[in-house]
Amino acid sequence: MGKEISDLFLLLVLLLISSGRMASAATLSFKNQCSYTVWPAIISENGTTLGHNGFSLAPGKLVPLKVDPGWSGRVWPRTGCNFDSLGNGKCLTGDCGSLNCSGGGRPPFTLAEFITASKPTDNNFYDVSLVNGYNVGMRINATGGTSDCPYAGCIVDLNGRCPPQLQVFNVSGSVVACKSACEAFNEAQYCCADNNSTAETCSRTQYSELFKKACPNAYSYPYDDVSSRFTCSGSNYLITFCPTDW
Ligand SMILES: *[C@@H]1O[C@H](CO)[C@@H](O)[C@H](O)[C@H]1NC(C)=O
Ligand SMILES: *[C@@H]1O[C@H](CO)[C@@H](O)[C@H](O)[C@H]1NC(C)=O
Ligand SMILES: *[C@@H]1O[C@H](CO)[C@@H](O)[C@H](O)[C@H]1NC(C)=O
Ligand SMILES: *[C@@H]1O[C@H](CO)[C@@H](O)[C@H](O)[C@H]1NC(C)=O
Ligand SMILES: *[C@@H]1O[C@H](CO)[C@@H](O)[C@H](O)[C@H]1NC(C)=O
Ligand SMILES: *[C@@H]1O[C@H](CO)[C@@H](O)[C@H](O)[C@H]1NC(C)=O
Repeated sequence: MGKEISDLFLLLVLLLISSGRMASAATLSFKNQCSYTVWPAIISENGTTLGHNGFSLAPGKLVPLKVDPGWSGRVWPRTGCNFDSLGNGKCLTGDCGSLNCSGGGRPPFTLAEFITASKPTDNNFYDVSLVNGYNVGMRINATGGTSDCPYAGCIVDLNGRCPPQLQVFNVSGSVVACKSACEAFNEAQYCCADNNSTAETCSRTQYSELFKKACPNAYSYPYDDVSSRFTCSGSNYLITFCPTDW
């Protein structure tokens, strides 16, 4: 009898612990609505490695990955990749040198950033940034959260609206990415660098205005926080590549 009660107690404790964990662990689901394969790159900044730091996502596929409470990291799409059996190889856009990324990617690429809470009641932060340019349309939906939780992202084809000076082409002459003005011109005003390195001395330019107009829920330049960085608590995330048909 005593043994049964202590077993029951242990079971209850285990259930409580695991339900507590369940409540605060989030799922990041990756969905590819593009007509081509996308290789998401994932860099974990806090917490364990996610998705081997990169994987192949064929058109139409959905891949859910669980993250520990407190996980933070960055995700970006890569296109036109060729990898050998060891995962060595290159991508046309967003390249990091191998299937399993260990550092940053080569711009331009669309970037998603996440900071998930360690406690279920705390806020998660999420955003999509065009500060490094754009390669693929990307949307973050915060699902099942307890607050407003707007979508983040750039849901239009910015390659089709990219100014000529910022365009990146593939060998057949199609625009496959759009550079940031910082990358294209390397000037302080576009990079928020040197004399323009603070929120007071760096403002929008004609190029970041164009990005913002096309993608109001994404960062168009580094001090764009108010309209680009979102919070939600208790949510999961759906990351969709090519979220709209065009
Ligand atoms: C690289 O990633 C792939 C797919 O995500 C995985 O199957 C493979 O084990 C990873 N390789 C290494 C060395 O981590
Ligand atoms: C980093 O992740 C660990 C779990 O992997 C968590 O305990 C810790 O709170 C996280 N740190 C932050 C700043 O969220
Ligand atoms: C994602 O967000 C967009 C914009 O708010 C919305 O139209 C769409 O229905 C959402 N999708 C899901 C699966 O929540
Ligand atoms: C170049 O990009 C276009 C548009 O994405 C695509 O249809 C075409 O196949 C690409 N060319 C090559 C050689 O990959
Ligand atoms: C920064 O501004 C100062 C004063 O306006 C100027 O003398 C200096 O050349 C500027 N530096 C750069 C890198 O533009
Ligand atoms: C950038 O810095 C220069 C000085 O180098 C200044 O004249 C200019 O007003 C700054 N731009 C903004 C947007 O504040």
